[in-house]
Amino acid sequence: MKKIFSQYIALDLGTTNTLIYMEGQDVVVNEPSVIAVNDSGKVEAVGEEARAMLGRTPPDIRAIRPLNNGVISDYQTTELMLKELFRMAFQGASVVRPRVLCCVPSGTTEVERRAIRDSVKNAGGRGVYIIEEPIAAAIGMRLPIEESIGSIVMDVGGGTTEVAVMSLGGVVVSESRKVGGDNMDAAIERFMRNNYSLLVGEQICEKIKIEIGSAVKPGKESTDEEPTFEVRGRNMVSGIPATITLSAAEARQALEETISAIVGTVSATLEKTPPELASDLVDSGINLTGGGAQLRGLDEVISRETGLTVKLAEKPQATIIKGLGSILSNFRHYQKLFNLNPA
Ligand SMILES: Nc1ncnc2c1ncn2[C@@H]1O[C@H](COP(=O)(O)OP(=O)(O)OP(=O)(O)O)[C@@H](O)[C@H]1O
Ligand SMILES: [Mg+2]
Repeated sequence: MKKIFSQYIALDLGTTNTLIYMEGQDVVVNEPSVIAVNDSGKVEAVGEEARAMLGRTPPDIRAIRPLNNGVISDYQTTELMLKELFRMAFQGASVVRPRVLCCVPSGTTEVERRAIRDSVKNAGGRGVYIIEEPIAAAIGMRLPIEESIGSIVMDVGGGTTEVAVMSLGGVVVSESRKVGGDNMDAAIERFMRNNYSLLVGEQICEKIKIEIGSAVKPGKESTDEEPTFEVRGRNMVSGIPATITLSAAEARQALEETISAIVGTVSATLEKTPPELASDLVDSGINLTGGGAQLRGLDEVISRETGLTVKLAEKPQATIIKGLGSILSNFRHYQKLFNLNPA
């Protein structure tokens, strides 16, 4: 058995996915934020295994997503899930309770912060350090946030979209809205119900989004035919299984409203940005990250809407955990810079 004496870990507890980074190693856990428990409160599965159970459980088992729009909605279950994920991270090594660096959306209330702190502690964490998500994302993308130059980050997650303008190590203006990739899935679900009377599961809707979803029509120069998707569901009227062929144009129509809400987040932030910083952004452009940012053409729509160039991060779902990892490897420096105190 490995023995670990004192250990720092980093935690990105997301609405859709949770990642854990371990000091001296790398990302050791990357799992959907889902847990399945049975009637007597026993954990049946966690992460990917629990996600596969969503919408498929027998009456005595519940598969739960304990976070909603970036914040904890079910405390007990969050704690239980974190306990399991910590166990997964340590793989049977005997551990002195780890110190945990975790992040919260900017603009999170003190009550919401306390909820995260308490859950991490009850799940086995010792000291808990909290940092704002856009700062972690910016460090993950190696932006010069310590300099007197404005940088802007846009994170489109599963349940939230956050935009922040940073300079001199701090967030100057930010905007966080409760809309993200999961709302795109819900919009497809609604579209199928309203237009085809077809009931379609959450996971199929996500698949449709990833395979044929887009934010803009392909340009005139594109000669490739747009893809379609054979959507299976249950007809609301007859009650029997049915299949509908959905076109990419229809998927685009279904996503339109959600996408304009997401893009509205960045416009609202820019309107609040002081002119000196705004002028810096013309040079540096928008740094786009988060799983939902991978929707085809989203970068193009944002660029068109703002007149700024948009750069999509390399592995958008790992940007924040990468940033948290960098903070841990240079902890003294960042602790002073961001005034990180354990609680
Ligand atoms: N290729 C893709 N195209 C479009 N969307 C995608 C793609 N891959 C993943 N997603 C979406 O990304 C979202 C999850 O992103 P991410 O992991 O950044 O969220 P999160 O950090 O858990 O959520 P939040 O930050 O809102 O708490 C999901 O809605 C998922 O469907
Ligand atoms: Mg996130």
